[in-house]
Amino acid sequence: MEMTVSASDNINGTLILPLYEGTEAIPEDSERGLPQSVKSQINRVLADGDFKAKKKSTMSLFGGEEGKVILAGLGKSEEVTIHDFRKAGAAVLAGMKKVHGSEFTVRFPTAGVAQKGAFGEGMMLRDYSYDNYKMKDEEDEDVEKKIRLMCSEKENKELSALISKCQGITKGVHLSRDLGNCPPNDMYPEVFADMAWEWAKDYDNVDITIINYDQAVKAGMGGLVAVGMGSERKPCMVIFEMNKGVKGKCPVLVGKGITFDTGGISLKPGANMDEMKYDMGGSATVFGTMEALAQTGYKGKVVGITCMAENMPASNAQRPGDVIKGLSGKTIEILNTDAEGRLVLSDGLWKAGEYNPGFIIDFATLTGACVVALGHEATGLWSNDDDFRTKIHEAGNDVGELAWPMPLLPAFEKEMTDSKIADTRNLGAGRWGGANTAAAFLKQFVPNWNYDKEGEQITWAHMDIAGTYWGSKTNTMVKNGATGIHVRTMHHLITNFKWD
Ligand code: BES
Ligand code: ZN
Ligand code: ZN
Repeated sequence: MEMTVSASDNINGTLILPLYEGTEAIPEDSERGLPQSVKSQINRVLADGDFKAKKKSTMSLFGGEEGKVILAGLGKSEEVTIHDFRKAGAAVLAGMKKVHGSEFTVRFPTAGVAQKGAFGEGMMLRDYSYDNYKMKDEEDEDVEKKIRLMCSEKENKELSALISKCQGITKGVHLSRDLGNCPPNDMYPEVFADMAWEWAKDYDNVDITIINYDQAVKAGMGGLVAVGMGSERKPCMVIFEMNKGVKGKCPVLVGKGITFDTGGISLKPGANMDEMKYDMGGSATVFGTMEALAQTGYKGKVVGITCMAENMPASNAQRPGDVIKGLSGKTIEILNTDAEGRLVLSDGLWKAGEYNPGFIIDFATLTGACVVALGHEATGLWSNDDDFRTKIHEAGNDVGELAWPMPLLPAFEKEMTDSKIADTRNLGAGRWGGANTAAAFLKQFVPNWNYDKEGEQITWAHMDIAGTYWGSKTNTMVKNGATGIHVRTMHHLITNFKWD
């Protein structure tokens, strides 16, 4: 898609008209240049109430070559939010057919630059499908859509800048989706590492470090090694450093990157196991965020740590009953090999302490229990700092990606450190509160500032995206498959972060 902004009045191709609920006739400043027959047609459907402009509704009208129109509902003007504009843009894109052609002009009702930008953003985000594995007829070849957003002379500069920022961020979201949607026979730790390596060649401010299997063994990354050793495709850690020369504290993002989760020896049931290809969604979020920041020219330092492994059952796989030791030096009793995400993250979180973090955030499709708690509507959000948790929650609200506060209670920590044989256990004592016990386990591996034994723990948050990284029917920014959630939240949080 090519999206441009212009103050010119011309209508190129199909006209897109976002409208507020209750509009009974085409707004005066939207009708210029339209053939009389099309104007009458629009006025008729509006006056008759055939198109009520309810949120996310659309209607196409065809009045010959010069008179193709898509009406888009925004809902009631007094209630409309920026999110409704984004959703309306996405709804229009979702409803586009070949007959609409490839050129579009959007004329807005009374609305600000932010609202117009959000409408464009919704169109961009929704303009995605994953058909790399489908044979294509020549006729089916997608023609690039050209979309022109109309605005006033005064708004032109600001809206252009906003749209170009959204374009950069959308690239990050789409990259996260591409990584998540890729089938697990073609997406495994080494492939992810190679992709990061190739990707970084486009940017001279990003460095990639790949810690391969042998190096991980040597370094004592017992969690990553234990999870990945049962697979032919060995685990690795991929570290992204952006603007590493910049002095001072920086955000460090850590991702769970299980390219396929069979459960290991604690094998999962067969139904829907294919979905476990998305179990690297945390790492895809980190990679996508790096792309969004790089595309938009972010000048600050940021580090991403992705913990990549495939969880397979095999004669050389880890067993329930094993006790392992990771980077932190703490031992872990393995009680269920399907609780593997927390094991790879335990090393990623500990490693994060080496990069002078101002805060650490991890992303993980960690627990089915989180999906039980929040469905597909919100990411579970835990933090050792209430203010920090609120900042992330608010950043999510700002961009329309909900992350809901969840409790880190001492009782859960006690449960996860109550092993008879080791310092910690990778499974709770019962089945209740599984998303919370998982978070409490992770907390055991968040280092103190400067690894100071007596000191305070680094500010940290955990985001369980098991219910939001794929499978959400109400996330209308995407048709199906991986959602690419939280790339936008992170871009917003990081680029607006005020360090104390
Ligand atoms: N990758 C899964 C979590 C998951 C399950 C995400 C379903 C999305 C949908 C994770 O590795 C896992 O298997 N967790 C177990 C933990 C349990 C053994 C303590 C779970 O949630 O059942
Ligand atoms: Zn698992
Ligand atoms: Zn998993």
